[in-house]
Amino acid sequence: MTGARKRVGVLISGRGSNLQALLDASTDPAFPAEIALVISNRPGVYGLERAQSAGVATATISHQDYPNRDSFDGAIDAALRGAGCEIVCLAGFMRIFTPGFVNRWPNRILNIHPSLLPSFTGLHVQRRAIEAGATIAGCTVHIVTPDLDSGPILAQAAVPVLPDDTEDSLSARILEQEHRLYPSALAWLAEGRVRIDGNRALVDGATASGVLLSPSL
Ligand code: GRF
Repeated sequence: MTGARKRVGVLISGRGSNLQALLDASTDPAFPAEIALVISNRPGVYGLERAQSAGVATATISHQDYPNRDSFDGAIDAALRGAGCEIVCLAGFMRIFTPGFVNRWPNRILNIHPSLLPSFTGLHVQRRAIEAGATIAGCTVHIVTPDLDSGPILAQAAVPVLPDDTEDSLSARILEQEHRLYPSALAWLAEGRVRIDGNRALVDGATASGVLLSPSL
């Protein structure tokens, strides 16, 4: 690729398997983004070790050390800007940002969510998909807006819900696709290929690739 790689801050709260997928993708010099900083709001989580092993700077900014959401968000914002970040990726980050924070990063924050949005926002979405009798589940990468799990959708991957699925087995099937989807979506944003039209994200050069039927006939 030509031009500088975009500097990315990744925000985590836990094991960081999506962070790992982004770190792995960015080891390719042709990948248009580099991970400049990993921030966790929880001390000691495994995702921090993954970042350190990859030689990436880390910070722990615990929400418990701040009197309110504004001051916590301000500390995150300062850390990201201090590291020269241009894009923010939420990867299992379990805090909700204030509108003020989100508006300071317009169309520059991505999130990955383990459902086919707009279905199943919030928590425990894999279990809720099974309980609702869905036959297709999946994951979504979307632009973060002040409303939870509802910004423009950049990319989605679908998987079947099998008759004997448990929350764990479905989560694992979805997670495998998360790890493929997130690096691609980040690359599109970093390459400047994403155009926002209302609540739609249009990706220059993207094509539809077929139809998914579940159960397949
Ligand atoms: C993933 O399922 C992601 O979609 C959701 O939180 C989980 C984080 O997993 N937002 P990991 O920390 O990336 O392994």
